[in-house]
Amino acid sequence: MSFFTEENQKRAENIFSQYPDKRSCALPLLHLAQSQEGYLSNETIEKVAEMCEIEPSEMMDTASFYTMFFRKPMGKYRIQVCQTLSCSLAGADKVVDHFAKKLKIQPGETTKDGKFSLLKVECLGSCGTGPVVQLNDDYIEGKTIEELDRTIDDL
Ligand code: FES
Repeated sequence: MSFFTEENQKRAENIFSQYPDKRSCALPLLHLAQSQEGYLSNETIEKVAEMCEIEPSEMMDTASFYTMFFRKPMGKYRIQVCQTLSCSLAGADKVVDHFAKKLKIQPGETTKDGKFSLLKVECLGSCGTGPVVQLNDDYIEGKTIEELDRTIDDL
C-alpha cells in the first residue's frame, strides 16, 4: 500500500501515466512526497524509491543533490536566498546575514518556534532581478533589506 494520501495517490498515478517508465517519475514524486510530508525523511525517500523501482541509495543521492528538497523538518516559512553569482553581486550575502541576525539562526536552521527557516540556495532562475528570495513558493525579487523586512514582519 502507498504511503500517499488517497488524493496524492491519484496524483502519483497521474504522474506515472505521463512518463515512459517508473524511474522517470522520481523527481515529481519526490516533490509530491515533500508537499505531503513537509520534508523528505529517509523512510519517505525509500518509499518513493520503491514506487519508482530505483535503489534507495540512488534516490537518496537525488534527494540530497537538489536544494529544493528538504531533508529535515522546515519552518512554516522558508526564506531561501539565492547565493549564485548574480544575486551575490546584488547583495544576497547581506540579505542572509541580515536575516540570520534578525531571526537568531544560521543558514540551514529553523527558529525555535518553528516559524522560519533560513536557507542559502543555488540559482533560482531569475538572475536579472537579484537578490532573489524565495519565500515558500513565491519569489521576491530585487527588494531592499527594508522591503524584505516588511514582508517578513507581516507574517
Ligand atoms: S543568480 Fe540568483 S536567480 Fe540566478
